[in-house]
Amino acid sequence: MFDHDGYRGHEGVTWISDAATGLKAVIAVHSSALGPAMGGCRLWHYPSSSAALTDALRLSHGMSLKNAMAGLPLGGGKAVILGPVAPEARTALFEAFGVAVDGLGGRYVTAEDVGVSVADMAAAARRTRHVSGVTAAGGVGGDPSPYTARGVLRGIEAAAARVLGRGDLDGVRVAVQGVGHVGGALCRLLAGQGAQLVVADTDRARLDRICDETGAVPVALDEVLEADVDVVAPCALGGAITAEVAAGIRARVVAGAANNQLAEPAAGTVLRKRGIAYVPDYVINAGGIIAVGAEYLGGGNEASVMADVDAIGPRISDLLARADAEDTAPEILADRRAEEIIVAARAA
Ligand code: NAI
Repeated sequence: MFDHDGYRGHEGVTWISDAATGLKAVIAVHSSALGPAMGGCRLWHYPSSSAALTDALRLSHGMSLKNAMAGLPLGGGKAVILGPVAPEARTALFEAFGVAVDGLGGRYVTAEDVGVSVADMAAAARRTRHVSGVTAAGGVGGDPSPYTARGVLRGIEAAAARVLGRGDLDGVRVAVQGVGHVGGALCRLLAGQGAQLVVADTDRARLDRICDETGAVPVALDEVLEADVDVVAPCALGGAITAEVAAGIRARVVAGAANNQLAEPAAGTVLRKRGIAYVPDYVINAGGIIAVGAEYLGGGNEASVMADVDAIGPRISDLLARADAEDTAPEILADRRAEEIIVAARAA
């Protein structure tokens, strides 16, 4: 563990290398001002160690903001594992990852993120108790994706009410980019409310399955964000919305699950200038961390977790109303509010 000014205000960054299993990972703890630094573990094929570090730092900072805005007694952290991982080494590797997490003594609490399954976290959980998203104890927690999808649904409802003047989603046209764990669950929820879906995914089998289940219409990968719809929901990887993409979006609302949706601040500026409401990613996609946070911290039940996830809706209504009142982009207001919460906790 070592600290360095170059680590964007992080409290600590730990590099892990385990020759026996081939594990190479970075654990970044951005802030523990509000509580243990919690955030998922991502498994990705990075072009270099420095790319993995950059991703870990960006994501852990994002977790501090997300957890603060969700009102959780949790700081922000993130782990990234440098793939690929051989299937036969996977269980042992995640156990070694659990040992590394345990070595931080609870300063960092891990869970699933892109590329990591409940089974992977169960392997880590054999070596540390500072892991969540494993078992739904008393009905709370386990796979965070359904909770994330529910929170995104609440956010879309709130934005549709404010921007489109819609009391429900019946007939509202939504484009979903990425129909994986969260995007797929979101499609099912949206279809259940009568929304009309267009969808795209690089995984053809997954795409076909969701289309069969929900009646969604598939569109080309490079068309989904610019589809003629009311709402665009980016639910694949981050960075999908560049300034150029923002200039081509036809929807009036951008509200999806992906972390770090705006590839550059200019993309947010373009959306705002064009009168498109951007719902800040870490505010709308907090459902999963709310659930696994409750699983780790204990004391919650299914009803209290659902109520906390549903509170994402009113939070987004407030944020969009303030953005209009103050003529400031919602993502800028969200960052300011989250930083205020963290600074106040640090001072206390
Ligand atoms: P996932 O890996 O299950 O789903 C992502 C889907 O996007 C996959 O089906 C993949 O084939 C597809 N995809 C990848 N590149 C694409 C592209 N260029 N165009 C269209 N589709 C593409 O991941 P998951 O768990 O559903 O997460 C989705 C996003 O939501 C990620 O950005 C993640 O960080 C974020 N998120 C997830 C949470 C969770 O509870 N799983 C919580 C908060 C954020």
